[in-house]
This record gives sequence, structure tokens and C-alpha cells, in this order.
Amino acid sequence: MTIGSTVIHHDRVSSTNSVASAMMREEKPEEGTVITASYQESGRGQAGNRWESEPGKNLLMSVILYPEMVKPEEQFVILQAVSLAVRDLVSIYSSDVAVKWPNDIYAGKDKIAGILIEHSIIGHRLAGSVAGIGLNVNQRVFTGGAPNPVSLAMLTGISHDLARITRELTALLDSRYRMVTGGEWSGLAEEYHRALFRRGGWHSYTDSRGLFRGMIESVRNDGMLMMRRDDGTVSEYAFKEVDYIL
Ligand code: BTN
Repeated sequence: MTIGSTVIHHDRVSSTNSVASAMMREEKPEEGTVITASYQESGRGQAGNRWESEPGKNLLMSVILYPEMVKPEEQFVILQAVSLAVRDLVSIYSSDVAVKWPNDIYAGKDKIAGILIEHSIIGHRLAGSVAGIGLNVNQRVFTGGAPNPVSLAMLTGISHDLARITRELTALLDSRYRMVTGGEWSGLAEEYHRALFRRGGWHSYTDSRGLFRGMIESVRNDGMLMMRRDDGTVSEYAFKEVDYIL
């Protein structure tokens, strides 16, 4: 299995994640099969948000995986591997690239990529996962209301070849996913930790209790964010339980 040895490109789809999920249910394609699209009519983001992308400008990709060695409660390792691969790719073109917990890739203070991983669970194992990646490449104007979008073209001042970026990203995904299948989970956790946006510095956040100053200490292997607060206590957060004030 090599991620990207089969790439199926569509001009227009509802969502590459939806296409990949349907394929997984209907024909069980080979692991590592990649679905890409020039345009998504209903691109999906985290928490029910839409993922906006101008036709033909950006990378819209979903990868089909069968991580049967991963238990449902260990699924965060897949997100670590995919996040690091996207971070690795953006780092080829730009400096100051970080993973904003849990699933955004930031260049400086701006969001350049988002990840949406959808798992299907059978018994006590992950039977299949669709790793969806939206990476802003050549779009320069964003009208969809995302707070702080940026693209490779905006960072570098030049346009980039989407086919080449796709090849580079699939190679990086392949090598990161081999760390999952090869059991190098502590290496992934360590690198994810080192790559964290705002790790170790005091910044402003909000949670259900309101605004506070906090310092990200770590992310546990179950994906929970551990945050030291300026009153000395440590809070743990699941996704969407804390907002970063940017
Ligand atoms: C987020 O940051 O909210 C996650 C965005 C994930 C977007 C990608 S684009 C390719 C794939 N297909 C989808 O419908 N969503 C993901």
C-alpha cells in the first residue's frame, strides 16, 4: 500500500470525503486511494461548518485508510499523522508553520489548511477512515467568512502547481501513515507536541467560564488539550470546549 498510488480526480463533487466514504462502503478500494476535486459543492469542515474553496484554486483531497491496528479510543494518532504530513508540506514553502490543536494548520497567525477525518468503527477497531484535507494553495481572496485564511500563493507571492503539491503531500502522508502502521506512535506524539501552535506561551482563550489567560502544556494521547491557567489550575478540554483569542 502506498498513499497516492491511485489518485481519482473529479472536476466537481459534493464533497471528496462523501465520495470517499461511499466508495469505501460500496467497493472497498485499495488502502491509500486518494480522491481529489477541483470544486466541492458542499465541502464539509469541522463542527458542521462549510469548507469554501474557489474552483480549481486549492487542494481538496480525501485519503482512504483501513487502520485496523488502531482502537477507536486511539484514533487521535491518525489525526497526529495527517496533521504532521500537512505541516511538513507547508513547511517546504513557508516558515513558522504549526498545528493548531486539534486539526488546523497555521502559517504564522493564519489558517492555511483544515483536516476532517471521519472514521467507521466496527467492534473495537477502526474499520475505515477518510482523511479529508483542504489546503489553500492559489486562492488570494476569501469571501466565505473564515476569520483568518491564508494560502501558499499569498505567503510566497507566486502560484503553485496543484498536481505537484498533490504528489508532495501524498508522499508525506505515506511516510507519516507508515509511522502509524509501524507502531511509531510515541514519535508522532512527540512531533505533534513540538509542532503545536502557541505551546508553552501565555495567551488569551475563552471557555464556558469566560475569558482567561492560559498556557498550552500538552495534548494527551486521547486528544484532550491540557491548559495551565493563570490561577495555577490545569484544565482539560475536548474539541470546541475552548476558543483561541487570536
Ligand atoms: C476544517 O478546518 O473545518 C476542516 C476542513 C476540511 C476540508 C476538506 S476539503 C477535502 C475534504 N472534503 C470535505 O468535504 N472536507 C475535507
